[in-house]
Amino acid sequence: MKIAVLAGDGIGPEVTREAVRVLEALGLPGLTLAYADVGGVAYKNHGHPLPAQTLEIARNSDGILFGAVGDPTCDNLERRLRPEQAILGLRKELGLFANLRPAKVFAGMEDFSALRPEVAGAIDLLIVRELNGDVYFGEKGIRTLPDGRRQGWDMMAYAEDEVRRIAHVAFKAAQGRKGKLCSVDKANVLETSQVWRDVVCEVAAHYPDVELSHMYVDNAAMQLVRSPGQFDVVVTGNLFGDILSDQASMCVGSIGLLASASLSEGTLGLYEPIHGSAPDIAGKGVANPMATVLSAAMLLRHSLGLEEPAARIEAAVAKALADGVRGADLGGSHGTVQIGDAILERL
Ligand code: IPM
Ligand code: MG
Repeated sequence: MKIAVLAGDGIGPEVTREAVRVLEALGLPGLTLAYADVGGVAYKNHGHPLPAQTLEIARNSDGILFGAVGDPTCDNLERRLRPEQAILGLRKELGLFANLRPAKVFAGMEDFSALRPEVAGAIDLLIVRELNGDVYFGEKGIRTLPDGRRQGWDMMAYAEDEVRRIAHVAFKAAQGRKGKLCSVDKANVLETSQVWRDVVCEVAAHYPDVELSHMYVDNAAMQLVRSPGQFDVVVTGNLFGDILSDQASMCVGSIGLLASASLSEGTLGLYEPIHGSAPDIAGKGVANPMATVLSAAMLLRHSLGLEEPAARIEAAVAKALADGVRGADLGGSHGTVQIGDAILERL
């Protein structure tokens, strides 16, 4: 069992360290860890945000534990050298097309939500975000129009096979949950979304037990704060999924609590907190490592097939929260290592 640990930038190393401590404390036989640079730190050490050796270590692992990438000192580099290209490159190179972003309110945490507690308490949803296509990976450029104005452009496109495979993931996920799937698009305006919607409807024929609905993304953003309890599984494209999952995190109470899995057609997966590198608090020891610890639990479950230790980790995090362990993100004073200790004690 080989886990590649790519801690990356900003708070990435701090939160990843705690997740590694939790993994090591489980004493899983045969577990090995391989570390590699990624993101801005990789650019600084090796001249590229996703060095060839990092990609190889990731490719040869059974699962990748990922911290975060993003470094303001790299924001003026040409785009292909920016830290963000590392995560986009890993997703594309390793065929990690299915991003699972669960959002659930932990018991007793309703008051931390930006929503009223009775609205927040009902949140238990899973966003299934397509990760290999859309405007993220279309042709793009900056050109000068004949009249001299600069124009930025990005091509949005989805081919039917790309939609079909993510739709299957989402329908199967719904079968394992409450059997409800909401597909989010912008089919009233975009042709990309029309193909998306048509293909999702075709795939639905294979899953008569799943109740399918469709929603425009603007309405979905509104419904997510109006009555998030109506959602079970949400499937959407890369760009809309990026936005809605950040929004869902605040409905839950903190972006410091949300884990994610990026899955391929095989068992290889990449697991990361959705919060990013948070450069403003990097190195201060105040970042909440819970999202990364929960990502490690997802790694054990989805890539290594180890349900029991995964559930143990999740229970330890839930217990720590129930016992009042609170990072700064939740208005508390527990630091990164202290939160790690609290989780370890409860493991
Ligand atoms: C995410 C992040 C990334 C994305 C960035 C860092 C490229 O926001 O994983 O949600 O946009 O996918
Ligand atoms: Mg994002």
